[in-house]
Amino acid sequence: MPIMLWDDSLDIGVAEMNREHQGLLDLMNALYDASHGGKTGPEVLDLLKKLETATVEHFRDEEAYMDKIGFPGAPGHKLIHKDLLEKFGTHANAIRAQNGQISEDFFKFLRFWLSAHIRGIDIKYGQMSHAKAG
Ligand SMILES: [Fe+2]
Ligand SMILES: [Fe+2]
Repeated sequence: MPIMLWDDSLDIGVAEMNREHQGLLDLMNALYDASHGGKTGPEVLDLLKKLETATVEHFRDEEAYMDKIGFPGAPGHKLIHKDLLEKFGTHANAIRAQNGQISEDFFKFLRFWLSAHIRGIDIKYGQMSHAKAG
């Protein structure tokens, strides 16, 4: 059972960012399935590292995209990314200290990020890129 399935409510209207969000969602689901299948140790920690790397890359790409289209909300959005990365780091350190044992708090955090950040925050630069194109 996945943590979340992709649906149209996650579509922000920017193809390359949708692709990156889908990649993140795939990694989150893989981590969720591994953890709920009773896995710990290197297998889980490897997925966690992949998610961490993909997240850093995604935020970097997204910030470059917002700068490229001159999105006025970019500075605030970057601060939110910084905060998400810090929270992610705190969770990741705890998971490493527990040798890949993941608490439900971490999945709650991921679900919140997907639902609130993509649908509530990322969507705003998507709307602006559309207004420009249209
Ligand atoms: Fe974002
Ligand atoms: Fe994003």
